[in-house]
Amino acid sequence: TDNYAVVGNPIAHSLSPRIHGAFAAQTGQDIHYGRQLVEEGAFAAFARGFFASGGCGLNVTMPFKLDACDFADELTERARAAGAVNTLKKLHDGRVLGDNTDGAGLVSDIRDNLGWVIRDRRVLVLGAGGAARGVLLPLLAETPERIHIANRTVAKAEWLAKEFSADAEITAGGLEEFPCAFDLIINASSAGLSNEMPHLPEKILGENCKAYDMVYGAEPTPFMCWAKARGATVADGLGMLVGQAAESFFLWRGLRPDVAPILQQLRKELQ
Ligand code: ATR
Repeated sequence: TDNYAVVGNPIAHSLSPRIHGAFAAQTGQDIHYGRQLVEEGAFAAFARGFFASGGCGLNVTMPFKLDACDFADELTERARAAGAVNTLKKLHDGRVLGDNTDGAGLVSDIRDNLGWVIRDRRVLVLGAGGAARGVLLPLLAETPERIHIANRTVAKAEWLAKEFSADAEITAGGLEEFPCAFDLIINASSAGLSNEMPHLPEKILGENCKAYDMVYGAEPTPFMCWAKARGATVADGLGMLVGQAAESFFLWRGLRPDVAPILQQLRKELQ
């Protein structure tokens, strides 16, 4: 039995063991996937011990994604771009690879589960923190017409846009002025977590606008309510959670699980 775990603080409510358990059952993989609470500052010591004692891979969540990035001996391109690691994999030579599957999970949820188009569309990313940075490279890889990053602190949006500007048309600004209307709006700000929602001008919603919140819960988020009340099609981030897990599972096991049944199951249990 190959050993995996999710590490975080807090970790008790993580759905990852459920999701990976379902993937393993579905694909007939003999793995054990646990959960591990680690104290802040103790990530590297834990990870070293885990891999030294035969562990094959870790998922890493708050607040250890930067620690995991430092811990990895080698990074994938998308992990380097994200500046954060949510998946560690022990390689054959004993070194540990750091990857970030959040962006791929977001893109596959939007494109494959929801059937929304990213290519040639005008995309707005709200927020310029770790969550936004983590998904920009995979979003850009879908070749949208443009990406605009809007953030309360404008300078952070500008730094982020500059960092990724080699790859596509990517602009930045604050939450008051926007360069155009958008086809797809992705909320990557943590404002909704405290049930807040910055005031946004209605005109950012283009025709047939799609609005995606990276956060999920039993109830629609404030951002989803705002967008839906103005005619947009909305989705929360539960599919991204399952999508990033599927991408981690693929990195570890070389198999792509079917995300639809587990996503349906989790959705039912959330209600
Ligand atoms: P995460 O890892 O979730 O991205 P983060 O790196 O702390 O967390 O980033 C939080 C993001 O949410 C930032 O873009 C932040 O805006 P600032 O850069 O201006 O701080 C945004 N955010 C948090 N609370 C907000 C609020 N009440 N209104 C608007 N934006 C908010």
